[in-house]
Amino acid sequence: MAIESGDEWWRTAVIYQVYPRSFQDSDGDGVGDLPGVTRRLPQLKSLGVDAVWLSPFMQSPQRDAGYDVSDYTKVDPLFGTMRDFEALVREAHALGLRVIVDMVPNHTSSDHKWFRKALAAKPGNKARDRYIFRDGRGRHGQKPPNNWQSVFGGPMWDRVLDGKDGSVLPAKGANGKPGQWYLHIFDSSQPDLNWENRWVRDKFKNILRFWLDRGADGFRVDVAHGLVKQGGLPDYTPPAEGASMGGNEAAEPYWGQPGVHEIWREWRGVLDEYDGDRALCAEAWVSPIERMALWVRPGEFDQAFNFDYMFARWTARDLRRVIDESLTAFGAVGAPSTWVLSNHDVIRHATRLGMAGDPPQGDGIGPRSPYPVDAALGLRRARAASALMLALPGSAYLYQGEELGLPEVIDIPDEARQDPTWKRTKGKRYGRDGCRVPIPWEAEEPSCGFSPTGRAWLPQPGEWAAFARDRQEGVPGSTLELYRAALRLRRSKRLASGGVRWLNEWSRSRTVVAFRNRSVLVVANLGRRPIGLPDGKPLLESAPTRLGRNGKRMLPPDATVWLRAGR
Ligand code: NOJ
Repeated sequence: MAIESGDEWWRTAVIYQVYPRSFQDSDGDGVGDLPGVTRRLPQLKSLGVDAVWLSPFMQSPQRDAGYDVSDYTKVDPLFGTMRDFEALVREAHALGLRVIVDMVPNHTSSDHKWFRKALAAKPGNKARDRYIFRDGRGRHGQKPPNNWQSVFGGPMWDRVLDGKDGSVLPAKGANGKPGQWYLHIFDSSQPDLNWENRWVRDKFKNILRFWLDRGADGFRVDVAHGLVKQGGLPDYTPPAEGASMGGNEAAEPYWGQPGVHEIWREWRGVLDEYDGDRALCAEAWVSPIERMALWVRPGEFDQAFNFDYMFARWTARDLRRVIDESLTAFGAVGAPSTWVLSNHDVIRHATRLGMAGDPPQGDGIGPRSPYPVDAALGLRRARAASALMLALPGSAYLYQGEELGLPEVIDIPDEARQDPTWKRTKGKRYGRDGCRVPIPWEAEEPSCGFSPTGRAWLPQPGEWAAFARDRQEGVPGSTLELYRAALRLRRSKRLASGGVRWLNEWSRSRTVVAFRNRSVLVVANLGRRPIGLPDGKPLLESAPTRLGRNGKRMLPPDATVWLRAGR
């Protein structure tokens, strides 16, 4: 059934992800904050984006960089105050930018008062039923209730002490006898909520209203495929070693269970109480795309991150396939496709695309990585990939710093690494710190303008100054100016509401991706040799085109060009 699509802003929006800890520090503690974001909003406006998505800034002990919330209606003092948030929204709206808040409903922090109460309560008590507590296996309940492995490494269960301390084992000096186990898909400090529980559901509806009342234009919803677990919690061993955020096509008992959709329909109802097209975007790592499209059926989410696109291999066939599949699957349910190449959980695409072999999806890399990186090739391809992405119809997500061409930082000293994955796997997996290093603004300033005191919660590499925004601003050919031009043209040529028509000449090519979107021809050369281009004035080039001997304009390898199409 074809569904008419409307003109809601999010259908065509470019949404810029701000990772607040690493964006701009204003108070000098080396951690970015909300006043820092507000200060830099004019620069985001001048980049040409439509909205910012703020990764979590709510109260949190920061064991998973804020994805472990201990109070959903407070701003963590690390990031500022509620007034700072309100000022940020005011300023953003005055500039015509929307603000998307990150909501983390799958789990709370273990510091959350709901979990403290659950620990102090007896098994079977209603406070415990808000989380997923179970008796252990074995004669004395000494084995976890099942074999599930946490996404960050190690078992998905931890045991608690029954008794007055309400502590989690192993707790030094704690009193009480070993009791039940609780489930945590991620770190042990992130206990999963029980979404079968009505009380939990109602609480979250009010949390949504709290932020909508304060001007939030929508939510990015964390782990939107994980809230409901298969009944009976059966043992399950994932196909690949090292648990992933999902994405396997197999029916996994903690990802993509059909019951999650009922929750999203309730959330949609809450957003619909408000005016102004408030948006819901799902982080749902499910595959294939047809399955992901279930999250964006009418009455649920508006958008879902397109992870298949993010991880498409750098080959013409793979890109054409995933673009076709995305437009078909999302289009069939009346949703725009989204496009994304980087975020705070994956290796930055300027590095990923320069890695030899087929590197793992998700986790970061480090200096002892078995995947050698060609940085120059990575940057070249990243620019080509971004230019291709920004010509596609639908909504695109950018991750802070990609507009500067920032690479993944692979040589963070071991002692500086912070990701719980690094700790839980005892250094076997590097985790995601490499894409979270504070970004450079002004080359000559301490910490490249990130913090007034020059501090940075993760060390910035020496070469960061070369990527600083002020070194690129107004410089023809810089990555920043490439993004700006792409966003400007995307808007003026109305590409986001256009469509993709593959150019016949290259529709089966192994090395060229070429399509027409409205009045623009987009050609990406993924091969090893320059290719001759059709006639048309170049509007945007990720690398310079040159006139060949035969008078034809030539596109070099690993480059994308936008041309004005003939009639
Ligand atoms: C997905 C988030 O993007 C990631 O950063 C976080 O660690 C997990 N969800 C757990 O909340």
